[in-house]
Amino acid sequence: MDSMALDEAALLRDEAEYCSFGDTVHYQEPPKIFTRCEGSFLYDAAETPFLDLQMWYSAVNFGYGNPRLNNALKRQIDSLPQLASQYLHREKIELATALAKRVQRTYGMKGRVHFNVGGSQAIEDSLKLVRNASNGKSLMFAFEGGYHGRTLGASAITSSYRYRRRYGHFGDRAQFVPFPYCFRCPYGKKREDCGLYCVDQFARLFDSEYYGVWDPKAGAAEYAAFYVEAIQGTGGYVIPPPGYFEKLKEVLEARKILLVDDEIQMGFYRAGKFWALENFNVKPDIIVFGKALTNGLNPIAGLWAREELINPAAFPPGSTHSTFASNPLGTAVALECVKMMGEEDYEAMSFAKGAYLLAGLKELQRRYPIIGDVDGMGMALRMEICGPDGFTPDKAMTDRMCDEAMKGDLEVGGRRYGLVLDIGGYYKNVVTLAPALTIDRQEMDLALALLDRLLHRVTRR
Ligand SMILES: Cc1ncc(COP(=O)(O)O)c(C=O)c1O
Repeated sequence: MDSMALDEAALLRDEAEYCSFGDTVHYQEPPKIFTRCEGSFLYDAAETPFLDLQMWYSAVNFGYGNPRLNNALKRQIDSLPQLASQYLHREKIELATALAKRVQRTYGMKGRVHFNVGGSQAIEDSLKLVRNASNGKSLMFAFEGGYHGRTLGASAITSSYRYRRRYGHFGDRAQFVPFPYCFRCPYGKKREDCGLYCVDQFARLFDSEYYGVWDPKAGAAEYAAFYVEAIQGTGGYVIPPPGYFEKLKEVLEARKILLVDDEIQMGFYRAGKFWALENFNVKPDIIVFGKALTNGLNPIAGLWAREELINPAAFPPGSTHSTFASNPLGTAVALECVKMMGEEDYEAMSFAKGAYLLAGLKELQRRYPIIGDVDGMGMALRMEICGPDGFTPDKAMTDRMCDEAMKGDLEVGGRRYGLVLDIGGYYKNVVTLAPALTIDRQEMDLALALLDRLLHRVTRR
């Protein structure tokens, strides 16, 4: 064994003995070790390039090692790298202002921005805002297939019981409502002529007090908010049909139920628009964001809420606190990131590159019947892997694709590459694709060629 392989073997031995496995590594055995990253690529110790089509679950929208964002971080390290959150710093104020003004331009609503460290924590903060605004109502609606994080509060509104099973309940679990997953319609309807039957089914809950959520005498719902991802992330990049959210929002407004828009994975142009929900013509009451806000460089997440919900009288100082909540390294990179987003037409870029990739995926679907469905909005793309009938989910094949992709031996143009893919979906059979928004034409062609090699390898007899 050469020294590099020895070193890796020793690291993996220590990892097996000293690292918790609870923080979601070990999807693959042995787990892969990477040593550096640049643009759309991760590199292992042998310098094999792995084209990343998931970009840290859409946290690195602007490419690994983005020089402009790295420099913003370096500048902050040399000026004000640390500061307790009871004091202010310019970057925090400018970042909150930029985001709040952006929402105001988009939706015509005034509001404020509140920071925390990770996405789940920002979700927790949003739960406090919602409960506070509804006199302590603790019940929420959320979607089947929805994912909002793994802290205790966030797990309670995340659909998977798997994330709650061993920990008991610390709060009320959401009522989970079917998402308009048209490829596998929960009501067995067809998108073309369903008339959005799924919203009618939700609206029906309020027809009588005996359906359990509505007191007609008080005119009050038992539920304070509906938590949505406009396009489901972990759920498998499922895109709702036109008109769905508009019709849903009418029901929510009539019943005074807040709409909380979780943009943690789909925000910042992943799905074409700055916020994914903008694609669907409805206004949220609260927006929660994270991940790509700092291009994955330094953790910071947060939320925007309507002024009525978050003004200092309603949500006074100390309502939430985390030592690192608006840390200056995070706010400085995020500020640069938001400035950068305003300087180029990322919306057009996301839609154009997404359309190019989607056309390529559709071409692959024609040649490989295991691809039951492909879809995309902006650069949030999905490829659903199925059995010979083009419908039955094939998790084993999807796992195999990811394992083969991670071997780093797919050949294109005389060079060997790996592919970084991620699996999502209700049946864990969806390859969820979130390439860097900065990916160029050559890299997109390489991505499609590598997927072709991969599909050829896993489907040949
Ligand atoms: C839609 C959505 N909400 C919430 C979260 C939780 O964010 P974090 O992992 O930063 O806690 C995630 C993370 O994947 C997400 O995709």
